[in-house]
Amino acid sequence: MKTKAAVIVEPGKPFEIEELDLDGPRDGEVLIRYTHAGLCHSDLHIMTGDLPARLPMVCGHEGAGIVEDVGPGVTRVKPGDHVVCSFIPNCGSCRWCATGQQAICDWGATILQGSLPGDRFPLTGPRGDYGAMCMLGTFSQYGTIHQNSAVKVDDDLPLDKAVLVGCGVTTGWASAVYAADVQPGETVVIYGVGGIGINAVQGAAYAGAINVIAVDPLENKRAKATELGATHTASGNDEANQLAYDLTRGVGADKAIITVGVVREPEITAAFNAIRKGGTVVITGLGNVAEPTINVSGTVMALFKKTIKGTLFGDANPTYDIPKLLNLYRSGTLKLDELITNTYGLDEVNQGYEDLEAGKNVRGIVTLEH
Ligand SMILES: NC(=O)c1ccc[n+]([C@@H]2O[C@H](COP(=O)([O-])OP(=O)(O)OC[C@H]3O[C@@H](n4cnc5c(N)ncnc54)[C@H](O)[C@@H]3O)[C@@H](O)[C@H]2O)c1
Ligand SMILES: [Zn+2]
Ligand SMILES: [Zn+2]
Repeated sequence: MKTKAAVIVEPGKPFEIEELDLDGPRDGEVLIRYTHAGLCHSDLHIMTGDLPARLPMVCGHEGAGIVEDVGPGVTRVKPGDHVVCSFIPNCGSCRWCATGQQAICDWGATILQGSLPGDRFPLTGPRGDYGAMCMLGTFSQYGTIHQNSAVKVDDDLPLDKAVLVGCGVTTGWASAVYAADVQPGETVVIYGVGGIGINAVQGAAYAGAINVIAVDPLENKRAKATELGATHTASGNDEANQLAYDLTRGVGADKAIITVGVVREPEITAAFNAIRKGGTVVITGLGNVAEPTINVSGTVMALFKKTIKGTLFGDANPTYDIPKLLNLYRSGTLKLDELITNTYGLDEVNQGYEDLEAGKNVRGIVTLEH
């Protein structure tokens, strides 16, 4: 079948909209009609070359839709099911899946190659084989994905909101609740209030943090953070540092979570300086993969028993956490509607990323038409 998709052909060049051929589902695979996709900064990292992906690649890794067809051996979903895609697949049996660490499932190895297991590229077109970001490629009307990337959700949930739980909401919320392990009464600094950071704010508030300090140079982002649980905001690192120490009688923040769009050395150094002895910095945001961005005194780190750790997907287990977060949405505890700033058509993906870069969007979403 044919599908219209937004493709990165060369680093540094905008998306091109192309009509591609899509092979149907084989063993373990699922044909999905994407209804919505979220505009996450990670796709921009592919566009800029921060993340070196095999190109051409159909981007988009936050996605939701309806199962149209399944290949042999598919047990997780059936035609007609509503699904949210998990940007890391989970095989269920590798060492990491078997120990409750689905976010680092071995199947994640080819997310930047964009192929399904066995070097399979269901998408082809004028430039040969096309990869699909995170083995999804949600900036497309249709996709052939593996069942290990599909999480069934209840039919009554609005997919235009549920889509956000495929990456941004889960990654941000879990960065606070799991990776940073925020505890009641703690003070947390969150650097960068985009689609990931705003959900770290929600997660930290949910976990009982008494002070949630949201840092962003943009006023609209700070206002959204206040609306969704931040107790304090700062426009820069010095102001955040001051708040972290003032609010804790000079002790420092318990946790710092870095969710800026392009992570560089100053944010990590600032977070390291804002935390107390025994405190933790969580790096969730990404930057240029080749650029060293941690440059702190190992001796200070030892003497103050500080931890700097990375996280993928906030350490979540998508088959458990995606439905769980949607239940929290249903109960009114987790806000999703309030996260969506702008909606775009597939042809407007470049506009969507211009708006993201200009700081206009907390989250933008693409509505796919068929
Ligand atoms: N680790 C993971 O699993 C994972 C998953 C998804 C996204 N990410 C990464 O998380 C990052 C955030 O993604 P997003 O979609 O929320 O991006 P975004 O561009 O929507 O938001 C980034 C925010 O950071 C702010 N910002 C920029 N520089 C800042 C600074 N120096 N100090 C404070 N704020 C600053 C921007 O104003 C913006 O509001 C990206 O690097 C993305 O690739 C990581
Ligand atoms: Zn993402
Ligand atoms: Zn696995």
